[in-house]
Amino acid sequence: MIFDSHAHYYSSAFDKDRDELLNRLHFEEDVCAVVCPSENVQSAVRCAELAEQYDFVYAAVGIHPNYADTWREDTERRLEQLLSCGKVVALGEMGLDYYRKSDNREQQKRVFTMQLELARKMGLPVIIHDREAHGDTFDILRQYRPEGVLHCFSGSVESAREAVRLGMYIGLGGSITMPNAVKPLEVAKYVPLDRLVLETDAPYLIPSRYRSEPERYSRSESWMIRNVAELIAGLKHMDTEELLEITAENAARLYRVKLARCKMNVQV
Ligand code: NI
Repeated sequence: MIFDSHAHYYSSAFDKDRDELLNRLHFEEDVCAVVCPSENVQSAVRCAELAEQYDFVYAAVGIHPNYADTWREDTERRLEQLLSCGKVVALGEMGLDYYRKSDNREQQKRVFTMQLELARKMGLPVIIHDREAHGDTFDILRQYRPEGVLHCFSGSVESAREAVRLGMYIGLGGSITMPNAVKPLEVAKYVPLDRLVLETDAPYLIPSRYRSEPERYSRSESWMIRNVAELIAGLKHMDTEELLEITAENAARLYRVKLARCKMNVQV
């Protein structure tokens, strides 16, 4: 059972075969749920539409820090409207990214904290993007204490410990499979089993095993989580299927969705 806690299936990388792929993931690849987080208002609408269209897809709506400069007076109202759709389960992604852009830090922080306030008002969890901004991100998390996940976690074991202490979940995906991944493996080893969720960040972060065949694997897809799970299960000396089950239950608890068995499993 695979719960992909973070995948951007509205991306144009999936325009050619989105419907076929999503059906295959659900009916043949044991993907029981996917949360699709947005980057801006347009993709937030797309995420909500995909969640309407597919039983096993849920949406998160939010403004990614790379789009902090697109925040307008009516943005909060538009997000709030989307939150009233039944299958929008979280706000995100939101956060700070000083890798891409660091000359608008104050604007990024403003857009981040406005969304944290909205999440608190709506009683919803959040999906946090933190890239090369650990200090400021954690200052804000300590202040707001949201429920949520630090997706594609890239910090040290110490910051993972701090995140867990704050009650957050840690999202791990393809980046832990890279040959130079040292810190992420230490984090994977450390993170308590009840705080771990798995993700692809599709179409990005293809696990390294599939990178040698770029014609065949041009994007990441939710089934590739199995490869990430194998690696982490090895580190934790446990069975891959058991790790997939536990992390699926964690994601279901985080996003408060009912975990339905895949149709494939029902037929067995
Ligand atoms: Ni993402």
